[in-house]
Amino acid sequence: MSDAVDTRGRLAIARRWNRTYVRSRFFDALSLLLPPGEAFLIETLETWRVLAAPLPDATLEREIERFVREEHTHRQAHQRYNDAMAEDVPQVRAVMQRAGRVTDELGKMSLPMRLALVAAFEHLTAVLAEEIGSNDNLLIDDPSRASRLWRWHAREELDHRHVAIDVCAHAGVRPATLRLALLLATAYLALDLARYTVALCRCDIRAGAGRRAMLFDALRFAASAVPSFARMTRGWCRFVFAPLDRAL
Ligand SMILES: [Fe+2]
Ligand SMILES: [Fe+2]
Repeated sequence: MSDAVDTRGRLAIARRWNRTYVRSRFFDALSLLLPPGEAFLIETLETWRVLAAPLPDATLEREIERFVREEHTHRQAHQRYNDAMAEDVPQVRAVMQRAGRVTDELGKMSLPMRLALVAAFEHLTAVLAEEIGSNDNLLIDDPSRASRLWRWHAREELDHRHVAIDVCAHAGVRPATLRLALLLATAYLALDLARYTVALCRCDIRAGAGRRAMLFDALRFAASAVPSFARMTRGWCRFVFAPLDRAL
């Protein structure tokens, strides 16, 4: 692992670890999507590597190995994060199962489309990671384990962001397929993130958080996140204009 974050121990997650309920639950909702999502990334690249073997490019082979290793570690770390969340909010288990069923459906698509989806998800992750790394609008920068876990994950995403694009270039995935995949991946992430964030906030209200305080949190989060989402939209557009550019 690239830094001192210990992902093996149990994460005790405070409900407002990211300063407010809504900001915290936004990242908690994202974490619920990650274990099945990262399994999809790993399975897709490993399938292509077997089918394309022997790869003419030893560097790409090593980069895929590193990608798989890092995503596997992220997956384990977020599974522990989610398990800790589920101890506090048992309804989380149903969300985890639903996220798994959605990625099972993605796994039935053609290999070029799956590869394009991997590149699209990786781009979306890298855009968020860039934003997290450049300011603390979305994610608190403090020594809490949750914050350090997200920052460690973001750094590794930025480090291996080029791998899926390199694979798509080698596999001959067309730019039009990559653009379509970006639309699908964005819709999937946006809808499920919004849905699960609201579901977790409802659980907090049932557990005693005031509705008015939650509404105030939501408005404050929406207002403060506007510059972040504007920057991320610019990052999103880079993929639309040049989907096979590994410098995205
Ligand atoms: Fe990851
Ligand atoms: Fe990644």
